[in-house]
Amino acid sequence: METTTLQPKTNGKQTAPHLTPEHIMQIGMGFWASKTLLAAIKFDLFTILAGGKLTGGEIKNKIGLHARSLYDFLDTLVALGFLRREGLYETAEYSNTPETDFFLDKNKPAYIGGILEMGNNRLYKYWGDLEEALTTGQPQNEIKYATSDTGNPFDELYKDPAKLREFLNAMTGVQMGAFMSFAKQFDFSNYKTLTDAGGSIGALSMQVALNQPHMHCTSFDLAPVKPLAEDFINKHHLSDRVEVKAGDFFKEALPKSDVIVMGNILHDWDEKEKLQLMKQAYDALPEGGAFVCIESVIDNERSKNAFGLMMSLNMLVETKGGFDFTFNDFDDWAHKTGFKTTEWLPLAGPTSAAIAYK
Ligand SMILES: C[S@@+](CC[C@H](N)C(=O)[O-])C[C@H]1O[C@@H](n2cnc3c(N)ncnc32)[C@H](O)[C@@H]1O
Repeated sequence: METTTLQPKTNGKQTAPHLTPEHIMQIGMGFWASKTLLAAIKFDLFTILAGGKLTGGEIKNKIGLHARSLYDFLDTLVALGFLRREGLYETAEYSNTPETDFFLDKNKPAYIGGILEMGNNRLYKYWGDLEEALTTGQPQNEIKYATSDTGNPFDELYKDPAKLREFLNAMTGVQMGAFMSFAKQFDFSNYKTLTDAGGSIGALSMQVALNQPHMHCTSFDLAPVKPLAEDFINKHHLSDRVEVKAGDFFKEALPKSDVIVMGNILHDWDEKEKLQLMKQAYDALPEGGAFVCIESVIDNERSKNAFGLMMSLNMLVETKGGFDFTFNDFDDWAHKTGFKTTEWLPLAGPTSAAIAYK
């Protein structure tokens, strides 16, 4: 595709002929592309097409599209690189690309749509109030409309069992790649036990148990999460090596373990609460034990990890005081807590492990 070159004029002189508005337009109108993909996921389009190619008419009947939108919707997905097509209009047959077939078919284990489903059902509308979040510092999600305050934002979300399940599936989608990488890369040879604090459905414990046969894991989370985590661990036949425990990490001690992991936990809380949680981890570890924090750790210059920075904006929208942080921030908090050394382990995409040793 040819790119348009802008030639702005200042004081009658041509300047900066290399400038193009492409990046600005792509990001500025990015919600068109985002919402088109999210709608296709909501309609299970990629799961349906995993069964084989279909014509536009067949797709229309299966997902109930209006005739007016049919070919524009499907061909936009072709142009965006999410569908393949042979033929045009009535003669066209549509199929998944290798990526959408692998990652967006609900019946495949690599399905990552959980976070995208939550993106569509919750975050899309809450980010619509980003300006209000930016000017007031107040969350814009369910908390904004809550009639009472328990002190834990998760209580509001977990009142609705469907939202609870959707949230836990979303967390698994975001973190699975990083968990797999951590379970394979981290040196577990000196350790036997691990607790994943705020372990959600148990995905981190599952990966460690599968990749490190000598490890015993405990997935620790709030009581409403326990039955779902137990189902998940049983489904993977790991209940002899992974225990699921219900508890509140602000109110009770964490189970004593050689390794304590917190995945996307510290970013949910303000600095005082972060330090409190790190102290909880410190107290539960033996000398030499490791505290591992798996998050979209922001680069120290705060200029490269855009996903980590936007995750921090997401914490503005979703929590009362949460924010993402750099490795230098983590290192500072770790030393304040009493940890001896720290290290940084890149995992997958924008996600890494910030590790502190007692
Ligand atoms: C952002 S999710 C992260 C889940 C998972 N660790 C991951 O990396 O995908 C935060 C988790 O912390 C749990 N959580 C929140 N408050 C908690 C508390 N007070 N005690 C224990 N777990 C809590 C939530 O239920 C949720 O599973």
